[in-house]
Amino acid sequence: MKVAVLGAAGGIGQALALLLKTQLPAGAKLSLYDIAPVTPGVAVDLSHIPTDVEVKGFSGEDPSAALEGADVVLISAGVARKPGMDRSDLFNINAGIVRNLIEKVAAVCPKALVGIITNPVNTTVAIAAEVLKAAGVYDKNRLFGVTTLDVIRSETFIAEAKGLSPADVNINVIGGHSGVTILPLLSQVEGVSFTDEEVASLTHRIQNAGTEVVEAKAGGGSATLSMGQAACRFGLSLVRGLQGEANVIECAYVDGGSEHAEFFAQPVVLGKNGVEKVLPYGDVSEFESNARDAMLDTLKGDIKIGVEFVK
Ligand code: NAD
Ligand code: LMR
Repeated sequence: MKVAVLGAAGGIGQALALLLKTQLPAGAKLSLYDIAPVTPGVAVDLSHIPTDVEVKGFSGEDPSAALEGADVVLISAGVARKPGMDRSDLFNINAGIVRNLIEKVAAVCPKALVGIITNPVNTTVAIAAEVLKAAGVYDKNRLFGVTTLDVIRSETFIAEAKGLSPADVNINVIGGHSGVTILPLLSQVEGVSFTDEEVASLTHRIQNAGTEVVEAKAGGGSATLSMGQAACRFGLSLVRGLQGEANVIECAYVDGGSEHAEFFAQPVVLGKNGVEKVLPYGDVSEFESNARDAMLDTLKGDIKIGVEFVK
């Protein structure tokens, strides 16, 4: 089992690499790539941690060596937000970075499961799909926008609000990964109920949690440590699915035949070929169905920008 992290010298990349080094199953290989020359050094640093996970680091312009034989590729290469920016402001730089990296994935490890972390996720996943289609290797079950940070934030904030352990909170977060396209289905959380005011304020906080971190870091970037944890959870779930474990379920932004949009975050069962099954996200409240319908123009617009960029 080989996991490649592209963007591995960055804030997310280093946190993610550390978590994978300590949590991947014994015998797994971890391959780190970044344009930053420090990347082989990051791998040497991690290699001193006593786990049965081999780490190699690669830098330079070409990620091919890092991608050789990869089963899972997690991409966080690109620039992050500063205060006053939206995720869509990252498009001009990150679109080209994701396109170039996915061209290499298509050439070197076209069967890998690919998780895109780089923002704007609503758009970069569409870019990745178009590049894979152009290369003739697109498999919709193997491409994921990583929206797990929205899920772990929801678990945390709900637990705080209701005095629960976060481990006991399960929630689907559907839609996409920016502003109003992030929709936590609070009405489905078992064992708790929320007033209308709580629903409004929790939904708003979850939708704006990325900005909360960007403002708190005051120009020093966006979420890296919580995102490292979220990407590790998602990456390990991909690995568990590949290894044949049953009932591995995560919400992710996928081309899953949604009636709402070409790409839509929803719960999926993960297996040996990536998405084994797209699950229905269940009954929603009137507030949630209104919020879902209201997000669709934004989400479809974000997807269209990605498709047009490649075409
Ligand atoms: P960072 O600046 O700390 O790290 C980015 C890394 O990418 C750097 O090390 C840089 O050298 C590298 N890089 C740039 N161009 C590259 C290329 N062509 N090939 C390989 N590596 C390249 O940023 P970060 O905080 O790690 O964030 C990375 C991205 O993740 C941003 O776009 C950010 O918005 C996004 N993000 C997404 C989520 C999510 O929930 N999906 C959460 C947080 C951040
Ligand atoms: C997040 O949700 O924290 C990330 O998408 C980073 C950002 O720019 O908000």
